[in-house]
Amino acid sequence: MGDESLEIERIYIKSKFQKHGLGKYLLKKALEIAMEREKKKIWLGVWENNENAIAFYMKMGFVQTKSHSFYMGDEEQIDFIMTKTLNGINVL
Ligand SMILES: CC(C)(COP(=O)(O)OP(=O)(O)OC[C@H]1O[C@@H](n2cnc3c(N)ncnc32)[C@H](O)[C@@H]1OP(=O)(O)O)[C@@H](O)C(=O)NCCC(=O)NCCS
Repeated sequence: MGDESLEIERIYIKSKFQKHGLGKYLLKKALEIAMEREKKKIWLGVWENNENAIAFYMKMGFVQTKSHSFYMGDEEQIDFIMTKTLNGINVL
């Protein structure tokens, strides 16, 4: 995605700790790091059927900008690429 973007590799919260604000906390940290590094966007890949995570990222202001295919064994899978543009006033 180039030098102007920061990738979030993965956010995984253990199921019993989900929906307590930890995902948002980690995302805020990533945003702070991206802004310190003067990035213009943050992005991540999420499996197209991971409705929970997609809804979370959308709530956090990400939009789907692309998709990307990969193979799990012989089966083709699709990741949505979701992006959030940074504008200096990024409040989650
Ligand atoms: C997706 C995940 C990281 C979210 O983390 P979380 O700690 O459960 O989410 P939070 O409690 O921080 O939620 C933050 C906000 O998103 C909202 N939210 C969380 N899950 C949501 C969902 N499924 N649909 C809509 N909104 C959702 C919360 O209501 C909260 O809103 P608020 O800011 O208005 O209070 C977590 O559920 C997870 O680890 N899932 C399993 C692993 C996974 O799929 N990771 C993503 C791989 S790319």
